[in-house]
Amino acid sequence: MSTFLTIAMPKGRIFEEAVHLMREAGFPLPEEFDESRKLILDIEEANMRFILAKPMDVVTYVEHGVADIGIAGKDVMMEEARDVYEVLDLKISHCYLAVAGLPNTVIRDVAPKVATKYPNVASSYFREQGEQVEIIKLNGSIELAPLIGLADRIVDIVSTGQTLKENGLVELERIADITSRLIVNPVSYRVKDQIIDELVEKLSKVIE
Ligand code: PRP
Repeated sequence: MSTFLTIAMPKGRIFEEAVHLMREAGFPLPEEFDESRKLILDIEEANMRFILAKPMDVVTYVEHGVADIGIAGKDVMMEEARDVYEVLDLKISHCYLAVAGLPNTVIRDVAPKVATKYPNVASSYFREQGEQVEIIKLNGSIELAPLIGLADRIVDIVSTGQTLKENGLVELERIADITSRLIVNPVSYRVKDQIIDELVEKLSKVIE
């Protein structure tokens, strides 16, 4: 009997590039994949089950072993230490984490407010800079915070830079470059090492 592999895929902006990469590597992902609202898609001829989750949750599924492997942004991996192996830089979904704000803002507070989806990354960044800040955790549309006076600055992902530009914000500091990573559950790696190594090898060949 062939080994069955469950793969957690991130919905949203990484999804398209991740699906493209899997197809390039020879995995027969059906067209249904691109349009479907289904959250579980089985590809029986390849012995694969794909589950579609929010990017931040992909790591949770893999950590708990309900998915053997997953695709997760380095941003998510940096935010929380998780019990998963990061085995391959897929070199897709290039973007970076940056500090941004309104131009020419004079900050008078002892601890300026920083809004972000990444409270741990932001805290350690400002600690390393020797700056005292107050972190405000948001779940999305982070760029809104300085516009309506919730925060002085934001720490967020910049991809094309369009969101910053259209909202009159400027990039102030660059924190880290981000790409998507292939992550593996440690137990799955022991039990299904052969099939996972094969998958890693196929993906490695098509990564630019
Ligand atoms: C991300 C990020 C920025 C935006 C950057 O948000 O948080 O808001 O993309 O992309 P850009 O530089 O190409 O404009 P996302 O669209 O994932 O949604 P969110 O606001 O719900 O986090």
